[in-house]
Amino acid sequence: MIGQVLLLGPLLFVVTVVAQVSYTIPEEKAKGSLVGNIAHDLGLSTKRLVSGKARIFTRGSDEYVELNRERGVLLVKGRIDREALCKKTTPCALDFQIILENPMEFYTVTVQITDINDNAPTFDKSEMKFKISEAALTGAKFVLERAGDLDVGVNDLKTYELKPTDNFALKVHNNADGNRNIEMVLQKPLDREKQEEMSLVLTAVDGGDPPMSGTMMILITVLDANDNAPVFTQSTYRTTVTENSPKGTVVATVTATDADQGSNSKIKYSITNTLDNVRNIFKVNDETGMISVTGNIDFEESRNYQINILASDEGGFTDSCKVVVEVQDKNDNRPEINIMSKSNVVSEDVKSDTIVTMINIEDKDFGENGKVQCFISDHVPFHLKSSTNNFYSLVTDSELDRERASEYNITVSCSDEGVPSLSSSVTLTLQISDVNDNAPVFERSSYEAYIVENNTPGLSVFTVKARDADWNQNARVSYILEDSSVNGVPVSSYVSVSADSGVIHAVRSFDYEQIKDFQFRVKAQDGGSPPLSSNVTVKILIQDQNDNPPQVLYPVQTGGSVVGEMVPRSADVGYLVSKVVAVDVDSGQNAWLSYKLQKVPDRALFEVGLQNGEIRTIRQVTDKDPVNQKLTVIVEDNGQPSRSATVIVNVAVADSFSEVLSEVPDFKHDKEYNDNLTFYLVLALAVVSFLFITCLVVIISVKIYRWRQSRILYHSGLPVIPYYPPRYSDTMGTGTLPHVQNYEVYRTTDSRKSDFQFGKAGSQNVLFMDPCCTDTIQRKLNEKTALMRECPLSPAASLSPYRFLMLMTTHLSLRGAHMRPT
Ligand SMILES: *[C@@H]1O[C@H](CO)[C@@H](O)[C@H](O)[C@H]1NC(C)=O
Ligand SMILES: *[C@@H]1O[C@H](CO)[C@@H](O)[C@H](O)[C@H]1NC(C)=O
Repeated sequence: MIGQVLLLGPLLFVVTVVAQVSYTIPEEKAKGSLVGNIAHDLGLSTKRLVSGKARIFTRGSDEYVELNRERGVLLVKGRIDREALCKKTTPCALDFQIILENPMEFYTVTVQITDINDNAPTFDKSEMKFKISEAALTGAKFVLERAGDLDVGVNDLKTYELKPTDNFALKVHNNADGNRNIEMVLQKPLDREKQEEMSLVLTAVDGGDPPMSGTMMILITVLDANDNAPVFTQSTYRTTVTENSPKGTVVATVTATDADQGSNSKIKYSITNTLDNVRNIFKVNDETGMISVTGNIDFEESRNYQINILASDEGGFTDSCKVVVEVQDKNDNRPEINIMSKSNVVSEDVKSDTIVTMINIEDKDFGENGKVQCFISDHVPFHLKSSTNNFYSLVTDSELDRERASEYNITVSCSDEGVPSLSSSVTLTLQISDVNDNAPVFERSSYEAYIVENNTPGLSVFTVKARDADWNQNARVSYILEDSSVNGVPVSSYVSVSADSGVIHAVRSFDYEQIKDFQFRVKAQDGGSPPLSSNVTVKILIQDQNDNPPQVLYPVQTGGSVVGEMVPRSADVGYLVSKVVAVDVDSGQNAWLSYKLQKVPDRALFEVGLQNGEIRTIRQVTDKDPVNQKLTVIVEDNGQPSRSATVIVNVAVADSFSEVLSEVPDFKHDKEYNDNLTFYLVLALAVVSFLFITCLVVIISVKIYRWRQSRILYHSGLPVIPYYPPRYSDTMGTGTLPHVQNYEVYRTTDSRKSDFQFGKAGSQNVLFMDPCCTDTIQRKLNEKTALMRECPLSPAASLSPYRFLMLMTTHLSLRGAHMRPT
């Protein structure tokens, strides 16, 4: 192109036609649009143009405009973009020349391009982000990015708009350099809690017609500021807790919220109670708001608690609420038993329904847990009476007896009605005091004691013992010998009783042969007031001692005179020569007699029966046997030591009495002896009968006297010295007289006394049943024996008359038996 210009230069120089044409067209005209009628404007004909081969000379503009020589017009050749051609420069024009040849001519054409609003304002970024604290004050400014518009003039950027305008306003500053700064000004405070993110649209509008605009998003994140206080979800919380809940039990959880964010919404909880001890009992977790138990929850102390909770955030904003905690009772209190009054000792004769103890019950628990029932142990003679609520009295139920139970441990148990029930108990010890309501009781209903005769006086015989169930003085027993008489003699002359110990002493020495037994009563009396007593019968049995030697009854030993038995020489072996009869007033073994020959002539002719005392021949009598034989028989009893008696038996071995006489020089004397014997026997019988009658008279007199005395002075205790008749109580019937005979003797004695009023009661076998009469009858019996005792017979004749007679008969019959063979 330049080359062309340089090449054409000389041509222009040669032919110069200077003309200036100017056109104005808007940019962006469509291709082929008319720019200007250049032929007309230059005053050239189209022929000239064609002939002149008119063309456009340009330094680059030819792409935009073309020349139509035939029509003589300039047409738009390509797109004309003002912004591309001129940027922001105004005015914007295309300069080119139209060159003609033949002649060479050129013309300058200026095509001014006017702007059309074909560009909208634009922002560099599509969005802008801001982080603005909600605490930002109104008036705070935020610089916004400017927009740009390629167009110029009126089409250039004209205004901005910001929407929405709730919080921010737009402020545009026109700078001196023509630039404009735009700012967003906070007009209304932000509230993150209301709107955390906001987006605004900034619109830039140009001045074209129609205007065009461009937008940019403004994204605002509202930053939190601690502008909100915490708020509890409820102002009052209600909850319950059972008492004695363990530490750590969660009671409730309070919650407060804070509209702020992050650390601004961090809430701390605390308890603000000050006057009460709530802070010792509960704690609140400062972060979670969980209220738990830290202390002891006692319903009995406080039935509810009010916990004041404060919630505060870090900025110092607070809220408070209260938590009302109702405490639920638990059965944790045992009933308390209080003894209001109590007697420790109660007399055993106290009436039933007497109040012994008053009790008050208290249970601190509530409702059923505090309802109490009391009862006492079974099997005690007491019961509980419930008076007004929670007062009980313990009263006696039935009669008390110290002897059965002197002490009661009464357990009063009280239990409440809680589940599980709690109970407590108290044991009352009640002593029962004694009343003298028990008489002494002897260990046995009757006593029997043995004492060996010939005892030393003062010997302690045995001990009676009575016990008294009462106590102390009421049980202190003294023993008293009751007045009575034994055989007419006061019993106190026989025995004494030690008052303290009950030991019975023999006062005198006893003789079995005189008294075999006796009985009396001992009274035991306690020390109560009035005293109580009982009595017991004591029977003393006297035991025999071998204190009497056997007594030979036959043959009768008459000092010096010869009593003989005759044995005929023809007598067979075993001929009964004689029989030694002896008795022993002792009894039993002591009276069990045995007979032995003590001295025997050389050639033994006789033997004596060991047990029956019979003297018999043991061989045939021979002529060599001397006529007179003197046998010594020893009679021994079986006592320990044994006692004995000897008897000499003269035996004549002869066929006739004359033979005996011839042998015996003084047979005359013997005959005389026989006569004498008969005489003595008769005399003795007479004497005995006399004595007997005398005896009877004396007895009757004494009896009458005694009877009178006893009427007046029965208890005067005059000592009477008794006599004891010999009695025989043999058993075997060997050698001694049989018992039946003894009995008969007494019968005889009794029948003789049949004129006394007790004569008919002669049999000792009679059993007296009537207890009230026992004493009398006993006395009668005693008197009866006394009668017999008081008949003092000589030792020689210390046998009853009957026996005496019988012995005589025996003697005579023996004699007769001896005579008969003669
Ligand atoms: C009562 O209790 C006391 C003391 O515990 C005891 O010594 C006594 O033996 C008891 N009495 C009875 C009758 O159980
Ligand atoms: C002895 O005791 C009996 C009852 O055992 C009684 O009947 C009697 O009267 C008492 N005698 C005296 C003298 O106390």
